[in-house]
Amino acid sequence: MIITTGLEPNETTMAHAIELAESFAMQLVPRRDASIQQLRRQHQDDAVLVVSAKGARLEIPDQPAFFFHPNNSAFRIKRLERGDTDTMLSVCQIQPGDDVLDATLGLGADSIVFAYAIGENGRVAGIESQTIIAKLVEDGMKRWRNGSDALESAMRRVEVITGHHLDVMSSMKDKSFDVVYFDPMFETTVDASAGIGGVRAFANAETLSAEAVQEALRVARRRVVLKEGSEGKLHERFGFTPYRKRERQAVYSFREIGGGE
Ligand SMILES: C[S@@+](CC[C@H](N)C(=O)[O-])C[C@H]1O[C@@H](n2cnc3c(N)ncnc32)[C@H](O)[C@@H]1O
Repeated sequence: MIITTGLEPNETTMAHAIELAESFAMQLVPRRDASIQQLRRQHQDDAVLVVSAKGARLEIPDQPAFFFHPNNSAFRIKRLERGDTDTMLSVCQIQPGDDVLDATLGLGADSIVFAYAIGENGRVAGIESQTIIAKLVEDGMKRWRNGSDALESAMRRVEVITGHHLDVMSSMKDKSFDVVYFDPMFETTVDASAGIGGVRAFANAETLSAEAVQEALRVARRRVVLKEGSEGKLHERFGFTPYRKRERQAVYSFREIGGGE
């Protein structure tokens, strides 16, 4: 991958690009007036991370570009502000002040909704195994503007942890979080939106392991919650109780700590 800027970057964009280049431990390639195609040829690398006033965007030929955006968290938070409920929050029995571990961060939309619901006294940590996703989502959550105050303040409070969730959870103490949440990649594509499409090319598509479920049950104080596609069978494999299963919709399921489900 190479890192460059848009044409004629201002000081803020330059500082952003330098910070990202440092975080990836790479050199920033000056854009001058070269096209992205010319940079690809000069550096013999198809993957170009372009930093502009709009944010950072990874461009690879024949793939949807990957960039951070709040995805469905913006409208979910609006609905919560109107007093509606959110199925994920209900399955997790979220209360203000809770601590949540999102073991499959992705674009972070679910983590942002958790952060909104939990408020300033709780903690949301999101684990992402793919460095490119983790770094761009962490960067985006820190810088995104144009959302409501509630959305921006929620995303600023999400902590990003880069690593495989099994390794990360293994280093955590028993009962460190009220809830541990898994949303692994669905085996069949159900969401073709640009944002998730962008993640798909870089995502870790491995299935959830029995070891990860065991670690989550150790690390959680209240519940471990799983989201999967409508055809998903992981909840059956791991003994999770489905929550209001509806045809053709994502299935949420949970395991109560203490075996009381
Ligand atoms: C379906 S996406 C999650 C979407 C997310 N809930 C959201 O709201 O944007 C799954 C993400 O989990 C990551 N992932 C899969 N297996 C993982 C693992 N073992 N450890 C950490 N991250 C993992 C994938 O790379 C992908 O980014």
